[in-house]
Amino acid sequence: MPLIAPSLLSADFGHLADEIEMLNRSQADWIHLDIMDGQFVPNISFGLPVVKAVKKLTSKPLDVHLMIVHPEKYISSFAEAGADILTVHYEAVTHLHRTIDQIKSEGMKAGVVLNPHTPVSLLEDIIKELDLVLLMSVNPGFGGQKFIEQTYRKIAKLRDLALNNNHNLLIEVDGGVTLENAPKLFAEGADVLVAGNTVFVATDPIKMIESLKKPVKG
Ligand code: DX5
Ligand code: ZN
Repeated sequence: MPLIAPSLLSADFGHLADEIEMLNRSQADWIHLDIMDGQFVPNISFGLPVVKAVKKLTSKPLDVHLMIVHPEKYISSFAEAGADILTVHYEAVTHLHRTIDQIKSEGMKAGVVLNPHTPVSLLEDIIKELDLVLLMSVNPGFGGQKFIEQTYRKIAKLRDLALNNNHNLLIEVDGGVTLENAPKLFAEGADVLVAGNTVFVATDPIKMIESLKKPVKG
């Protein structure tokens, strides 16, 4: 089943409770929260207090994407704040196996994020341990960027790697997802699509979320 995770980065922060209420009424499966530290990526977003506040307003799983250096230092803090899924960048972690272990031991689902230039093959020796892999289809840091077409090839490679090693692996794609590319991304093997601008700029975000889940454009 295709899953959609709207990214709060594009939400109206002056009316965050209303935005969450809208997502609660929608077919959104997860809520994606982008944590940026101004070091790993050239932008600063929001942190633990916002995750905590969102947790109180929804029962949908919180999919927390850490774009920070030394994410291993904050694993228990994000678990306490209410993260259900925690993803860390391959490019930001030295002892990835240990970090994934720590995330799981805090009771969260664990995922690794790959920047557009990072090959899927680097996950060969860790893939069995992962609940999900998040493929960046833009360079992380900002919403509303253009989708990088190479992502389709990466999904196919990751699907192959998962078929041989981890049948339960979820493949998530993040960045530049639109009504136009969503059907192809699902067809290539993506399980979860993150959508920021496409959802929150839409005149009817609830309808947009529903449309993104349809196998054909509509
Ligand atoms: C980018 C973030 C994304 C972002 C996606 O660094 O990881 O989650 O919110 O935004 P759109 O869907 O607008 O490209
Ligand atoms: Zn993200």
